[in-house]
Amino acid sequence: MKALVKTRAQVGLELKEIPTPEPGPDDVRIHIMKSSICGTDLHIYDWDDWASHNINIPLTIGHEYVGIVDKVGSNVHDYSPGDLVSGEGHIVCGRCRNCLAGRRHLCRDTLGVGINRPGAFAEYLIIPVANVWPCDSKIPLEILTCFDPLGNATHASLSFNVIGEDVLITGAGPIGLMAASIVRHIGARHVVITDPNPYRLTLAKNMGVSMAINPQEQTLTDIMNHLAMKEGFDVGLEMSGSPKALHSIIKNMSHGGKIALLGLLPDTTTTAWNKVIFHGLTIKGIYGREMFETWYKMTTMLQSGLDISKVVTHQMSYKDYGDGFDLMRSGQCGKVVLDWREI
Ligand SMILES: NC(=O)c1ccc[n+]([C@@H]2O[C@H](COP(=O)([O-])OP(=O)(O)OC[C@H]3O[C@@H](n4cnc5c(N)ncnc54)[C@H](O)[C@@H]3O)[C@@H](O)[C@H]2O)c1
Ligand SMILES: [Zn+2]
Ligand SMILES: [Zn+2]
Repeated sequence: MKALVKTRAQVGLELKEIPTPEPGPDDVRIHIMKSSICGTDLHIYDWDDWASHNINIPLTIGHEYVGIVDKVGSNVHDYSPGDLVSGEGHIVCGRCRNCLAGRRHLCRDTLGVGINRPGAFAEYLIIPVANVWPCDSKIPLEILTCFDPLGNATHASLSFNVIGEDVLITGAGPIGLMAASIVRHIGARHVVITDPNPYRLTLAKNMGVSMAINPQEQTLTDIMNHLAMKEGFDVGLEMSGSPKALHSIIKNMSHGGKIALLGLLPDTTTTAWNKVIFHGLTIKGIYGREMFETWYKMTTMLQSGLDISKVVTHQMSYKDYGDGFDLMRSGQCGKVVLDWREI
């Protein structure tokens, strides 16, 4: 089969012919239709510091995908060839306290598809049946392939009650944009998003946020005055990984406000801890998706009118993957989707 493999400790990937994997007894083999490029894939492509310390090569990368079940192991009875599926990219241990209690997103021994084991930028992917998610074929394929990042956005956005609340999202990358659509869909009042990237601010405006602002040009105090918000934001979603953005959230929260941290912040990040204490703020770290409540909720929200279609800005053949990674690096894109079907 064809696969995009990280073969060398340098920038780039190699489109290679490699053996098609066989499913084990508890596995499902998926014939990939579409996959999407994540920031993590770009880190691996560019072979940055994180990648060189965390990735063992050779490795087929990619963890966001949709496809058709093509072959199942002997213990698999819930799926059969022809089923449209995606899958959870965190393979959990099944034995730790959290796994046993059904809190699998908190497993302390997780393996990542396309990070610690072969991934989805290939014609075929093998995952354990416990990780397979059945897809609603009425949802477009380019949306289904984004269920992993949409799940990140859903997990964060549903962490706190946002009905009638004012929500601040820092970072209008694909996940921040999806979160903006979600909190709008579930009944937030004002949804303000910040990003220094004009392309992404335009995307956000087109997706119906109350205000999309460049933090280098406008202050949140001005925005709050403009929206006649007296007491600050009720919910903050940090989706940029920027310490400056975290700082702006903490500064502009209402007392008792709730903050979800999803963007990966540098270890050296400092914050105004006394504001967190005196203002009674709650901070929650978000990792991955709740298995599988998040998958259920994102499906039902899409079935009831959630529209994230504008986040998918580019679709191309897997053969043009180099262009896809260049786009990701430029920031002039939302989600970039690769199509594997013309093989
Ligand atoms: N916790 C998890 O499970 C998880 C999963 C996936 C991604 N992530 C992280 O979540 C974040 C968002 O993911 P993404 O794919 O949307 O990333 P992305 O890099 O495409 O988007 C981040 C956006 O933040 C913007 N930004 C930079 N500085 C900013 C600032 N000071 N204020 C406001 N915006 C600023 C950038 O211009 C960019 O558009 C990343 O940090 C990513 O590493 C976390
Ligand atoms: Zn991802
Ligand atoms: Zn576990």
